[in-house]
Amino acid sequence: MMRFMRTFILSCVAFCLAIFVVVQNGSTNAGASEFWITVDSSELQHILSDRGSQQRSSLKNAGVERVVGDLAILKLNDVQMEELSSAMHDNFHKCSGYVAHTNENDALTWARDQYAATTESQLVNYTIDNPVAVNSMLGYVSEPQIRQTILDLSAFPNRRYNQSSGLQSANWIKDKWALLAARQSRGQVSIEFFNHPTATSPQPSIIMTVWGTRFPDEIIVLGAHQDSINSSGQTAAAPGADDDASGVACLTETIRVMMETGFKPERTVQFMAYAAEEVGLRGSNAIATSYRNANKNVLGVMQLDMTNYRGTQGYDMVMITDNTNAAQNQFLRDLLITYQPGLTIGNSSCGYACSDHASWHNKSYPASFPFEAPFGNDNSAIHTANDTIARSNNNANHAVRFSKLALSYIGELAKGCVAIATRC
Ligand code: BES
Ligand code: ZN
Repeated sequence: MMRFMRTFILSCVAFCLAIFVVVQNGSTNAGASEFWITVDSSELQHILSDRGSQQRSSLKNAGVERVVGDLAILKLNDVQMEELSSAMHDNFHKCSGYVAHTNENDALTWARDQYAATTESQLVNYTIDNPVAVNSMLGYVSEPQIRQTILDLSAFPNRRYNQSSGLQSANWIKDKWALLAARQSRGQVSIEFFNHPTATSPQPSIIMTVWGTRFPDEIIVLGAHQDSINSSGQTAAAPGADDDASGVACLTETIRVMMETGFKPERTVQFMAYAAEEVGLRGSNAIATSYRNANKNVLGVMQLDMTNYRGTQGYDMVMITDNTNAAQNQFLRDLLITYQPGLTIGNSSCGYACSDHASWHNKSYPASFPFEAPFGNDNSAIHTANDTIARSNNNANHAVRFSKLALSYIGELAKGCVAIATRC
């Protein structure tokens, strides 16, 4: 009898403890990851309506705090964010479609800045008159180099912002860039982590700076996001070969060629591998906001996100026309016509803040987003375990064009000279 009582009491204690742990986990999770979201208000209305809801119970409890311009602002927990992602995916074929902010004030500022940002301003008098430097660099671009970086990055189980492998991949990129920079002992290059608050992203962003020889305060930014995601789960395999190892690989090749040829820019060039893009543009938003607050003079931004899947509609590249700067987009088309004649170039648009260029555009910096294929004809395997280089026939031929565009952008916007061709 005593033995039975003891077993009964012990079982009760164990059961209650188990319940306590479950409840604790549930509530700490929800509490720790609440974010303020900005999202297209008519799309959100559709999702919250009966037709769009499809039993997403926890979203029903989310109240829209306010609407500014086209954007609704609301506070969501982890579960609600997941539900909104899948609803956006099912209803509008977007991967998540919203931008995440740590507090209400930041969300409001984003919505107001988005309303004020224009695609029509022109900061720079664009010229194309530096062919010796540009053509020397273009001759060095190597497809096997880009391919290898894509393979190396997609070999991580995932590069998710909150997984240990996402921290390892951040270190890998920083070390790789540092190694390339070490070939140039000019003291004009620095590489640093840009750390984020842990709740925003345990994964740091990475910034490499090549200081300008004449106008060090005038900055040109080239960026790609380092994180990857599998929409079916936090720990699921996310090779992210196209999205966006391909963009980081193009930046890495651009850096390698600059270092190899001894290119010295007149204006400062910064390469950025953004953290946590896939969960609401968090890394780039933090950086663009800090640059605007410090009144930094960024003359141009280029985003490379998905560069290695050609699509089937016959385009070699398209310019994304929303959340970008029209004058700089034209400059990029002119660069392509001059330095890569024969390419078929189109226009396309995302219809929402689909990548990190939007963070810079939001802060009224001129941003461009040259993209792999017309929107909708791009790589349909992104955010799955199948986003591997096999989708691009195991080569990086398409990505080569984007590295060449990046090098011509640097040569003609930062200006400067190459040691191998001239006294420099
Ligand atoms: N690389 C995608 C964006 C993309 C996909 C652009 C297809 C063009 C065509 C990016 O990494 C992404 O998934 N973005 C999210 C938005 C972000 C704010 C979370 C998306 O598209 O929903
Ligand atoms: Zn991406």
